[in-house]
Amino acid sequence: MATPQSAPAVYLRPFRPEDEPALIDIYMAAYREHPEYGEPTPQQARRYLQWLMRHHTLFTVAEVDGQPVGFIVVDATWLDRSRRRVGEIHELAVHPAYWGKGIARRLLEAGLAHIRTRGLTCAGLWVGEHNERAQAFYRRLGFRPTQKGWGEWLRMVKRV
Ligand SMILES: CC(C)(COP(=O)(O)OP(=O)(O)OC[C@H]1O[C@@H](n2cnc3c(N)ncnc32)[C@H](O)[C@@H]1OP(=O)(O)O)[C@@H](O)C(=O)NCCC(=O)NCCS
Repeated sequence: MATPQSAPAVYLRPFRPEDEPALIDIYMAAYREHPEYGEPTPQQARRYLQWLMRHHTLFTVAEVDGQPVGFIVVDATWLDRSRRRVGEIHELAVHPAYWGKGIARRLLEAGLAHIRTRGLTCAGLWVGEHNERAQAFYRRLGFRPTQKGWGEWLRMVKRV
């Protein structure tokens, strides 16, 4: 049976160094509607990705038809601002051409499973205070905002 167009076959796999150019494109496209929360240039996005490569315990790429379309980066060794260990979602981005197809949900569920496997009970992230799309997505997935803002960033957490 043919796969409906709204539900492409999505394959999750670990990050590979050769993904870097594709992930920069995804990242720049994903933050186009909120450039204030992303990196301003592909060169700075590359530096940010290189930071992510050094600070993660899970870096998973979602592929459709053999091409990367999204990714998640999680660090299960992170200490939050109260010095508590937390499963930190450092980044989650899906190319806008693939929004609304359940791809971020798949990535986030993989991230949360990883955090649970590491014995943690809390996942957390920072999201732009006006990034309503991402906030609605995280709320749908069970995250709740906390009172602990940080400048233009809102802290959201979920018990896992
Ligand atoms: C936020 C983002 C990751 C969501 O990706 P996505 O692949 O479109 O999300 P999904 O299709 O997996 O949506 C999963 C669920 O969230 C819900 N959701 C997604 N966007 C929503 C929105 N704007 N409003 C309400 N619900 C929303 C979906 O309805 C879906 O619920 P369901 O599975 O119960 O039907 C994507 O828009 C993105 O890359 N944004 C730019 C980068 C960014 O802001 N990242 C977060 C940084 S903290």
